[in-house]
Amino acid sequence: MKFFLDTANLEDIKTAHSWGVIAGVTTNPTLVSKEGDIDFHTRVREIAETVNGPVSAEAVSLEKSRLIEEAKVLAGIHPQVVVKVPLCPDGLGAVKELTALGIKTNVTLVFSANQAVLAAAAGATYVSPFVGRLDDIGEDGMKLIYDVVEIFDLYGIETKVIAASLRHPAHVLECAKAGADYATVPFKVLKMLFDHPLTKKGIDQFNADWAKYLANK
Ligand code: E4P
Repeated sequence: MKFFLDTANLEDIKTAHSWGVIAGVTTNPTLVSKEGDIDFHTRVREIAETVNGPVSAEAVSLEKSRLIEEAKVLAGIHPQVVVKVPLCPDGLGAVKELTALGIKTNVTLVFSANQAVLAAAAGATYVSPFVGRLDDIGEDGMKLIYDVVEIFDLYGIETKVIAASLRHPAHVLECAKAGADYATVPFKVLKMLFDHPLTKKGIDQFNADWAKYLANK
């Protein structure tokens, strides 16, 4: 399983990229709005120039021809751009045509395995099943990841699974066990994955012992 960073914050992206662990970035309109007064297209270009991998940028139109036009503009920003398209009939109709045009897509707001299968049938490059938002309404978000991975494996479906809406490290671990191709994680969660009290204790101990060694030389 590879990691995408789920943010539109350029500083966090630069930091995570410097750690060598992210394969790309996903954004959504909510994450972009948190960045204040930025130009969306400029930010998408900046992100793509920072990371060596796919950058998902969301199209917000709900009508097929408008979605396609919006997607073409987004895809024209940078070769690494993947256009996020909402799961709806017009969205999947757009995905079919965008795929034929060679434009990569990430079908978002996927909350059932049937929706994921539909997205794959339309030719989506990626699907993003949302875990946390299902948990939020008392459903089992992680089961969705297991189901989608199992079905895609069963049929040899090439659409990649991005486990999305992940809120904590336990989500990430389960996604890895489920066989998700990618986990897209907020910066806060990515940082938490590094932490273990014994790692910190070990570093502190080794540093203290090394200082003793140097002092005794
Ligand atoms: C990423 O593609 C999704 O838009 C994101 O993970 C949603 O996360 P949230 O449910 O925490 O807003």
